[in-house]
Formats: sequence, C-alpha cells, structure tokens
Amino acid sequence: MGYTFTLLLALALLHIARGASVGQDSRIRYDNYSVYKIKYESLGQRNLLRQLAEDRNNFRLWHEAKDELHLMISPYGLPEFQAEVLKANVSAEIFIPNVQELIDVETDENSRASSDDFGWKKYNSLAEIEAWLDDILARYPVITEGFVLGTSYEGRTIRGLKISYKSGNPGVFIESNIHAREWITSATATWLINQFLTSEDPLVRTLAESHDWYIVPVLNVDGFVYTHEKDRMWRKTRQPSEISACVGVDPNRNYDSHWMENGGASSNPCAEDYGGPHAFSEPEIQAMSDFVGSIKEKLNVMLAFHSYSQLLLSPYGHTKEEYPENFDDLMEVAKAYGDAVEAFPYGTVYRYGSAAGILYPASGATNDWAYNEQGIEISYTIEFRDTGRYGFILPPAHIVPNAEEALIGITALLDKCKTLGYLELKYNL
Ligand SMILES: *[C@@H]1O[C@H](CO)[C@@H](O)[C@H](O)[C@H]1NC(C)=O
Ligand SMILES: *[C@@H]1O[C@H](CO)[C@@H](O)[C@H](O)[C@H]1NC(C)=O
Ligand SMILES: [Zn+2]
Repeated sequence: MGYTFTLLLALALLHIARGASVGQDSRIRYDNYSVYKIKYESLGQRNLLRQLAEDRNNFRLWHEAKDELHLMISPYGLPEFQAEVLKANVSAEIFIPNVQELIDVETDENSRASSDDFGWKKYNSLAEIEAWLDDILARYPVITEGFVLGTSYEGRTIRGLKISYKSGNPGVFIESNIHAREWITSATATWLINQFLTSEDPLVRTLAESHDWYIVPVLNVDGFVYTHEKDRMWRKTRQPSEISACVGVDPNRNYDSHWMENGGASSNPCAEDYGGPHAFSEPEIQAMSDFVGSIKEKLNVMLAFHSYSQLLLSPYGHTKEEYPENFDDLMEVAKAYGDAVEAFPYGTVYRYGSAAGILYPASGATNDWAYNEQGIEISYTIEFRDTGRYGFILPPAHIVPNAEEALIGITALLDKCKTLGYLELKYNL
C-alpha cells in the first residue's frame, strides 16, 4: 500500500517534472502546450524571458530574433510565464493554443495519404525517403549518383544524391534537415530533386542541367527518425552527454568555425542550442565536414535548409561587428531570392541579412563553416515558411507552395551569382 502510494506519487511527480506526457503509442504528447510570441525592446527584457528557456521542461525555445522570442510553454509553466511577462513588462501574444492539436492533424494527414505512394501531400519518413532515393537511382542511372556522408551516432547511413547532366558545371550543395523537427526542409529537398529530374519547364531544365547538385535530404537522420517515432518537437542529434542526462547536441552549432564564440551557442547540454563538448563531437557533422572538404573545389554555393521564419541568413553568425568581404554581393544575391519569391503568386516575404545581424550570435553553423573554412563564397541558411502561425508543424498543404518558392528563389539566386561571377569553375576540367 505504502509502496504503491509512493510509486504513484513518484510517477505523478515525474509526470509534472517531465511536462509532456507519453501517449498510448509511446509518442510524447503536447496537450495544451501553447506557443507565444514575445516582443521586447531592451536587452534586460530579453534576458528575463530568455532565462525561462533554461527550464526546458516547461519552456522550449522555438525561435529567437533580435526583438522577438517564440516560446513553447507547458500548461504547468503558464503561471510562471504570466508572472515573468508582467515583471519584464513585455507584450506576449499566443499563436498556437494547443501544439498537440496541430500534431494530431498532421499525423492524420500523413496516414491518410497512401503510404506506398511517395509524394508531397504528406511528410515522409526516413525509410520512405531512402526507398524513393533508391528508386530514383535505379531510374536515372546516368544522371544521378548516390553518395554516403558517413554514419550517424545510432549507426544509420547518411545518404546524399548527386545530379549531374554534364561535366564542367558549377556545384551547389544543399544540406537539409540538420534540425530534426524542420520537416518542411526534407520535403522541399526531395521535391526539388524530383523537379530536376522530371520537369519539362524550360526554366527548370536549364537550372537543373547547368549545375551539379549535391543534395542531402536528411542530415540529422537519428533526430529525424526520433521526431517521427517519439517526439515531434526534437531538434538536436541523439548522442547522449557524458555530463548530463540531457541527450543531443545542436548540430548547427557543432562545426569547427568560431565554435562557441560570443555566446553563439550554449554550453548547457539541456539547451536547444548546445554546442557540444567540443567542435565536431557529432559524427554527422564530422561526416559532413569530411565529405564537403573532399569536394570543396567543386562547390560554388552552399544552401542549408531550415525552418521557420522566412529568412536568408548569410555569414557571419558569430559576430555582427564584422562582415564578410563580399557582404554586399551576398545581400544582392539574397535580395534576388527574396524578390523572386515575393513576385510569385503567393507573395511570401523573405527578409535577409547576416545571421548575427538579423537574429543573434549563432556560431558553428554550416553556412559560416562553409564560408570560412571551405572557401565557398556564397553560403546561406534559408529559413522556410512560415513566420509562426504553425511554426515547425507546417501543414502538408504548404509543402508544394513552399518548394515552388524555393525553386523560383534558387533560380534567381543562381542567376545573380552567375552575373556576379561566382559560378566560375575553381578547378581544371
Ligand atoms: C487541456 O485543457 C482543457 C481545457 O482547460 C482540459 O479540459 C483538458 O483536460 C486538458 N487536456 C489535458 C490532456 O491536460
Ligand atoms: C511598460 O511598457 C510600457 C510601453 O511599452 C510603458 O509605457 C510603461 O511605462 C512600462 N511600465 C513599466 C513599469 O516599466
Ligand atoms: Zn533549423
């Protein structure tokens, strides 16, 4: 009796401490978790609110910009949140009242779409993406070539696809789904692959055939599988920590380029932007570094796909006191992307700037590393739809429109790169 009571009490406490509960199919549930947009003016206000995110059980950071924070809050954390909002005298606006509701709708739509029909009406699992890649490789043996980046912490193969119609093309590398919960990125990357191979639109044909494409649809394979099977809101890798019970590292803070400088990543293993015990501690990022390093002469452009907030972010991420030598060009190229997307029927607006300038210092990210350490002079993080209405749980109906915008944006971006002389070969044929 006493034992049962203690056990129940312990379970109840565990439940409260963990915040999220576990559903019947062992997925973590987010019932009544809300997401708030908090606007602030001063650094003091920001720091007060930012501190909440240190308690990751009740508060999870979704998006952070210079003047704005998006926080997911557990129902248990609401009273503390309201008190802090009053104390800091900031305005907070709810935009997702119940995260689980969005996840449920998404799960329904994913299961309603036929599972043996790979397409873009739903979000595909890693197994589905890999089977589809195999199919592509079998159908287009001359134009496509599979490559392997390496092996993840949990032992999965990290795969990529090269598309090349002829020799002598400038190279474009697309890294996608380094952050596990950003499902729109791999959906967009696979849609682009399909367009490059099957589109009959002359503009797409020219784009596809006049560049060599190196596309990694899912870089953070362990995290991605985890978001499908266990926790939809997972961001990091899945390697355990030696100093904490918290699992995983922010892979986009783990590159050896100004690693952990200027508070550009957290040293707290429980933080969403934990930089890791050392640079390249994550096998996925070491693998990416080895592979890109081995072909860097062939690469003119690096694009890292993320969501959400509709931004193009150029180097530098580690500081806003300095700007890259070709910053004006980087902004002109980013503007070309933004203008093209905005002129498209959906009228979606993208902003652009350096990562540190427009958001906050973030060091050790792919785009900075590619620019600083690999000599790839055109290098961006692209944050796709939306600006917060759905955040990471973007409904599948957005997949194709978002991907169309990426296609039109990348076309304009590469046209501008060519005009500015960035697509010259760096090696002898
Ligand atoms: C969510 O909130 C509603 C309304 O307050 C409540 O009725 C419901 O029981 C809550 N659900 C869970 C799982 O806590
Ligand atoms: C709170 O902010 C508002 C406007 O942002 C300002 O007018 C007011 O004086 C502030 N109150 C305190 C106590 O700082
Ligand atoms: Zn991201």
